[in-house]
Amino acid sequence: MTRKIAVLPGDGIGPEVIAEAVKVLERLRRDFGLKIEMETEPVGGTAYDLHHHPLPVATLRLAEAADAVLLGAVGGVKWDMLPRELRPEKALLGLRSDLKLFANLRPAILYPQLASASTLKPEVVAGLDLLIVRELTGDIYFGEPRGVRTLANGERQGFNTMVYAEHEVERVARVAFDAARKRRKKLCSVEKANVLETSGLWREVVIRVAGDYPDVELSHMYVDNAAMQLVRAPKQFDVIVTGNIFGDILSDEAAMLTGSIGMLPSASLDSANKGMYEPIHGSAPDIAGKGIANPLATILSAGMMLRYTLNEPTLADRIERAVSKVLDQGLRTGDIHTEGTKKVGTAEMGNAVAAALEK
Ligand code: IPM
Ligand code: MG
Repeated sequence: MTRKIAVLPGDGIGPEVIAEAVKVLERLRRDFGLKIEMETEPVGGTAYDLHHHPLPVATLRLAEAADAVLLGAVGGVKWDMLPRELRPEKALLGLRSDLKLFANLRPAILYPQLASASTLKPEVVAGLDLLIVRELTGDIYFGEPRGVRTLANGERQGFNTMVYAEHEVERVARVAFDAARKRRKKLCSVEKANVLETSGLWREVVIRVAGDYPDVELSHMYVDNAAMQLVRAPKQFDVIVTGNIFGDILSDEAAMLTGSIGMLPSASLDSANKGMYEPIHGSAPDIAGKGIANPLATILSAGMMLRYTLNEPTLADRIERAVSKVLDQGLRTGDIHTEGTKKVGTAEMGNAVAAALEK
């Protein structure tokens, strides 16, 4: 059965890094029996420029019809002045909510070859392997009411609503418990239950779900402390489960532990494991078009796609091994370059990974 992949390159370095992931997938198709077809549509600012909307109907339909979505990145200063509804970021949020991708998996793994690229001491991060499970379709990102209103005194007031229903917490908690079960069996739920009612309910629900996972050790942590612990002693964590906004912040922090945000893939899954896969770095407009962006996060995202949605664990392993091999060969894009390694561009890195698939 041939599976359909919606390829949405997006903005900034998106098209450059997607091209390399596509190269790797093409090689798997040609040489390793992967049965996929890929179709591309614009998304984000690029789509706005072409069709006056960041998430055109054709793009959304393709994403809906596909078995999986591979996305580059969206956004750029060029579109920052647009009304919020038309901004590139809106496409991402629209895809997440339309496709009901409530569980966002953001692994932070430190490749031993990159230990010196981290800004933290090697002994703090060596061997780091944690997974953040971020709720992705609820919370203050989507909560109503929201807006900017004018008060009686004429002053304007902005407002958003942090909201979680029990079923939203329960389903993402189950994804996190299931993931922990396949790892080191430790789950830390992060919220702000000392201040927020939403977080109090979150904690209650997580504790209830824990009843079905007696083999997983559950702990709770306030988000401010979690932010601190992530840089103090990150290896204490196995799986972290948290809400949308806290997960947004903590996953960027966790990314930096690994040396570069340019290394980290992500998966956003619905209840049937259909997924959207994207690097967690953004569109990086400052380096776009220069051919120097790190394509490894996108290539690893394609790997996650093979693992979680396409059920091709052997091919996913093959991608991960290939990435490790090119790092062993000393190849580095600028973001992870250190003395004694060889600086390469985006395409050169992609070619090296594609070649390393063979071994
Ligand atoms: C992310 C990004 C997005 C988010 C932005 C681009 C809307 O920061 O995927 O983490 O806030 O979720
Ligand atoms: Mg973010």
